[in-house]
Amino acid sequence: MQKSDILIIGGGIAGLAAALTASKFGNVTIITKSKIGDTATQKAQGGIAAAIDEKFDSTQYHFEDTIEAGAGLCDEEAVRILVNEGVTRVKELIEMGAQFDKAETEGGGKFSLTLEGAHKRRRILHAGDATGKEIEKTLAYEVMKQDNISVHPQTLGIDLLIIDNNCAGAKALDLKTNKIETYLAKATILATGGMCQIYLYTTNPKVATGDGIAMAYRAGAQIVDMEFIQFHPTSLLQLKQFEDIIALPQFLISEAVRGEGGILLNIKGERFMEKYHNQCELAPRDIVARAIFDEIKKTKTNYVNLQLSQIGADKIKRRFPVIYKTCMERGLDITKDNIPVAPAAHYAMGGIKTDTNGRTNIESLFAAGECSSLGIHGANRLASNSLLDGLVFGHRSALKASEKIKNKLLSPRVNEEQNRNAFFTDEEIHQFTLAIKINMWQKVGILRSGNDLKDALDKIKNIEDKMAFTPSTKQEIETKNMAQVAALICCGAIDRQESRGAHYRTDFPQRNDKNWKKHLTYNIMDKK
Ligand code: SIN
Repeated sequence: MQKSDILIIGGGIAGLAAALTASKFGNVTIITKSKIGDTATQKAQGGIAAAIDEKFDSTQYHFEDTIEAGAGLCDEEAVRILVNEGVTRVKELIEMGAQFDKAETEGGGKFSLTLEGAHKRRRILHAGDATGKEIEKTLAYEVMKQDNISVHPQTLGIDLLIIDNNCAGAKALDLKTNKIETYLAKATILATGGMCQIYLYTTNPKVATGDGIAMAYRAGAQIVDMEFIQFHPTSLLQLKQFEDIIALPQFLISEAVRGEGGILLNIKGERFMEKYHNQCELAPRDIVARAIFDEIKKTKTNYVNLQLSQIGADKIKRRFPVIYKTCMERGLDITKDNIPVAPAAHYAMGGIKTDTNGRTNIESLFAAGECSSLGIHGANRLASNSLLDGLVFGHRSALKASEKIKNKLLSPRVNEEQNRNAFFTDEEIHQFTLAIKINMWQKVGILRSGNDLKDALDKIKNIEDKMAFTPSTKQEIETKNMAQVAALICCGAIDRQESRGAHYRTDFPQRNDKNWKKHLTYNIMDKK
């Protein structure tokens, strides 16, 4: 049994930022199912948005762009905190040593700031096209220096320990020893990241199976806005067969490429974004993703082209070294060749409902980063706001969670002795996962209809029912979590009978503020 003041589940930007803040007040344990660095943060290319250029930008402009992208569902107070405190948190990150690209010319301020979809000002700090990696490295280095933070990699949270609506920690599976461990803490912060591995095509790493959201849901936490899944418009077309791409993330071609002048062409060579939005390639992400989907259908193919050659070979190589190298390895010289791209599931706007201090409806349980939802992103996240979200609200939840350190540790009765045999074979679990991914992609994707959604929910509920036992292996735990979060997305998407932001219903194509300018919240108690 492990005891600490604060338990943090997850090792991406929100978890690490929370750990650093919490370590100023007490001892901290981080558990992560893979290792620090195997996270969506690490893969984030584009950058981190913050209004640090006081001459050409302001937090008010950043606020307005975030609200506009969010399609009527942003929480204004949360967005104000994000854009205002975000500037301070980013400056701290720079003081810790994060190296963001510097401006090459006068007029851009000290840092080179780029544009992405729906930003009206250049405000995105970047480190080449590996911004997340630079941030993760900086925070991880600081975390490793703290004697009172202990990191437990290869440890998968199974369930939260709840006594009278109070979280006492979590039960976790040590993947190295296959033993169940109990982690007791005075406060627990979920920072487990996203869930887009439930889709066949996704930019998310293998670890993004919605574990934190599913754990919180089973524990009685409120889950909100699940129907809003953001599809990134441009992931590199995956040429392999279905089976090969299970869990394999699609390689992202950052929106910053379009911010620097990249344009989209359909396979007939026609530039098409002017037809869809006056911001063309830099329209909000949901609009670009749907436009690409439309062009793909019209031209009876499975991709459109992203043309970069006009940016110039030197700038491409300097500004996008990872994209250049990865495409080159796949036989594409992007200084000359077009990149075949298609949308892929990228980010969950919904998740565990929290207030602006990361508090959930369960006492001593907090959530931050992609697994949480406090209305910053509304129905459609503004590009490069997610790293900022993790940084700002990781910090804020840790501040609030640290107030619990004066409390006594609760001691729930935990049965660590459990049958460690798998219930299902690997092949059976693989088939369940595949069925979830295919159903979610085909029926709960970019375009949705009531009939398709109900059909997907039936199929996913069937899998959820089959997984209604205490899972023993990593595969069983993850598949159970995936089925639960997928079912919640289907429920939200069925219930929301309108189109808004990333949620598009072909049978209800209009936004309907009169009936639907509200959040849909689910709780396991409602199900019973
Ligand atoms: C990108 O680089 O296009 C992704 C940035 C984001 O998702 O915010």
